[in-house]
Amino acid sequence: MVDAAVQAMCSELALVGNPSSLHTAGRRARRVVEESRELLAASLGARPSEVVFTSGGTEADNLAVIGGYSARRAADPRRRRVLTSAVEHHAVMDSVQWLADHADAEAVWLPVDRLGRVDLEALREAIESDPESVALVSVMWANNEVGTLQPIEDVVELAHAHGIPVHTDAVQAVGHVPVDFAASGVDLLSLTGHKLGGPMGAGALLAVRGAALAPVQHGGGQERGVRSGTLDAPAIRGLSVAAQVATAELTSSMARVTALRDRLIDGILRAVPDAVLHGDPTDRLPGNVNVGFPGCEGDSLLYLLDAQGIECSTGSACQAGVPQPSHVLLAMGVPDDLIRGALRLTLGHSTTEADLDAALAVLPAAVERARGAGLASRVG
Ligand SMILES: Cc1ncc(COP(=O)(O)O)c(C=O)c1O
Repeated sequence: MVDAAVQAMCSELALVGNPSSLHTAGRRARRVVEESRELLAASLGARPSEVVFTSGGTEADNLAVIGGYSARRAADPRRRRVLTSAVEHHAVMDSVQWLADHADAEAVWLPVDRLGRVDLEALREAIESDPESVALVSVMWANNEVGTLQPIEDVVELAHAHGIPVHTDAVQAVGHVPVDFAASGVDLLSLTGHKLGGPMGAGALLAVRGAALAPVQHGGGQERGVRSGTLDAPAIRGLSVAAQVATAELTSSMARVTALRDRLIDGILRAVPDAVLHGDPTDRLPGNVNVGFPGCEGDSLLYLLDAQGIECSTGSACQAGVPQPSHVLLAMGVPDDLIRGALRLTLGHSTTEADLDAALAVLPAAVERARGAGLASRVG
């Protein structure tokens, strides 16, 4: 977490008070929440009344997709279709699939190109084939695996031409690239604290005034009845301070991290000439590097690098203990061998040139060893 957010959050942790209580301590906690709401809104081009605090990105995505669909469907039962890209985070994908399995929705998975960018023609066709039947369009702002930025303004233009609301999962974008809620035109936007230098377990859904949104979580009626549950005032404060710091420093941090990212990509491709960069080479998140190493098992590479103090992720996700190939790389048409050998290195505000030197110093040997391990396991 960034220092200012740690300090802001820690100073709240020692204090008691439920923001919904009417006594003095409760009113003080309420003030913290409302000041944080103003700060977060101001950092993101939103109005304070458009901020719905949640426990993070997953909850914000569930609320947007399930709550958005439910409200639109209740207003007009013909609206069964949810249009979303094939490369969304599971928080969106699985919410859409849940609606299809349990709430009579029809999921439409929009294809992406080989860089991971959503096919706008496919979106146009899906909308124009029957605009009255679309409940919601959900397309992420930036992809969490390959970093590709999506053409959100074009998505909004296509959907709004037919009065269809747009949700965007901006969890990876907020604090890393410019995000202005009002200027973007989206109706619903998800964000989370731990991706922007704030705490885990705190996030928000930005929802335009009058957005069609039914509650998914029921109880005490907090957050104007849209999201019940006692508000975590310290985490909310940490989140809003982190968002303010991240947006205030955005121009300089973007330039710095982008330069580091490009140096890392260049260094990797020089050291391992058959490695392949996944995602858009330039129109991508400043801190995202995703590279496929042919003939390597990503897992072997991950453990070899971890042992050298380099922490990264692979291109596969573990579901119920079984590694599954990345649905993002599959949707982009990446060959199996490169999916198996995909490695994701993430750079952030604290990453330094020395970190890059350390990674580049150990990577070539780790790739050689991982290739050997892959060969041995295939022969054996
Ligand atoms: C694009 C995207 N959406 C949603 C989430 C989930 O957010 P959270 O971990 O706050 O639930 C993540 C987390 O990594 C993400 O990258």
